[in-house]
Amino acid sequence: MMSKKLLVCTNYRANPNNPSCAARGSKEIMAKLTQQLQKKNVLIEVEEIQCLGYCSVGPNIRLIPNGEIFHEVSVKKFAEIIQAVKGFSKH
Ligand code: FES
Repeated sequence: MMSKKLLVCTNYRANPNNPSCAARGSKEIMAKLTQQLQKKNVLIEVEEIQCLGYCSVGPNIRLIPNGEIFHEVSVKKFAEIIQAVKGFSKH
């Protein structure tokens, strides 16, 4: 079985007319989310990915395999993501 992971888009585009997740703070989000997961003892790998194809609604994070995609992620969405990870592990 493929191990579950959270993929965080850390693609960066300097042009403000061409949105990207890193330009919207996804690297910081990734660091904070990783900390939260450790603090709550939720075991899942967190990896960087270059573009999930939803650039206009980033930062984007995808739960794999075949999991949910979270858009416009901020610390406010961490609880929701952590719940999804916990539920996902039962499948
Ligand atoms: S830049 Fe993040 S989804 Fe495209």
